[in-house]
Amino acid sequence: MALFKKKPAQELSIKDIQLPEHIGIIMDGNGRWAKKRGLPRSAGHTAGAQTFRKIARYCSDIGIKYLTVYAFSTENWRRPSDEVDALMRLFKDYLQEAIRDFKDDSIVLRFIGDRSAFSPELLSLMNENEEESRERDGMVLNIAMNYGGRAELVTAIRDMANEVKDGSLDPAAITEELVSQHLYTKGQPDPDLIIRPSGENRTSNFLLWQSAYAEYVIMDVLWPDFTQDDLNQALIEFAKRNRRFGGV
Ligand code: IPE
Ligand code: IPE
Ligand code: MG
Repeated sequence: MALFKKKPAQELSIKDIQLPEHIGIIMDGNGRWAKKRGLPRSAGHTAGAQTFRKIARYCSDIGIKYLTVYAFSTENWRRPSDEVDALMRLFKDYLQEAIRDFKDDSIVLRFIGDRSAFSPELLSLMNENEEESRERDGMVLNIAMNYGGRAELVTAIRDMANEVKDGSLDPAAITEELVSQHLYTKGQPDPDLIIRPSGENRTSNFLLWQSAYAEYVIMDVLWPDFTQDDLNQALIEFAKRNRRFGGV
């Protein structure tokens, strides 16, 4: 990709660069943000949910085609029940708001992850949001809820095994493409850029298959403090990377 303009890096603006088609964000650092302020962790999640609203809108405004946000992992159930309850309440608030206020929006909402763990109320709000937004033509916003990359692969393997068993799939026809088609993200391009605020250098089970050649940008800012400027910085850093995909 010919991404570099003859300008010093600090003068680059996002108008000068090629934007990623698909961005993933691990929305991390809510708990530390709250702790620094002597607040309960749930206050960090409330603040993080506001940041999510702003950053999702901004990504859509600048023309990002796919945004996947990691909101709750398959491992996050290990947290104290009051924290899990607070997170579920925040999901519910957002999903109700999206139905109520985003009628004329262009964003297509999708949920990736294992839905079987959610309350019937949350489940029907998720389905309703997907139905309402299906025909829109704007950015696809994947919200990863009860998502784990390993669990996603296990589900895909089980589905393919069942197809082999019932005779509809020849094992020799199992290709990388076919595996991709059995994931929650089927039909979508792989993420080009994955941003992890809060400084942690790990994937924490996010998009394991899809991130094979994603560029990671780890940032020190905690998610509730993350701004449009931080996103711009990550986009500019992404544009400076030389992606080789194993070639030269
Ligand atoms: C991310 O923030 C939100 C979820 C995992 C749901 P954390 O709650 O993990 O914040 P830290 O990492 O403890 O600061
Ligand atoms: C990853 O963050 C999950 C989400 C942001 C939803 P965690 O805070 O759960 O990850 P670890 O425990 O630091 O690896
Ligand atoms: Mg964390």
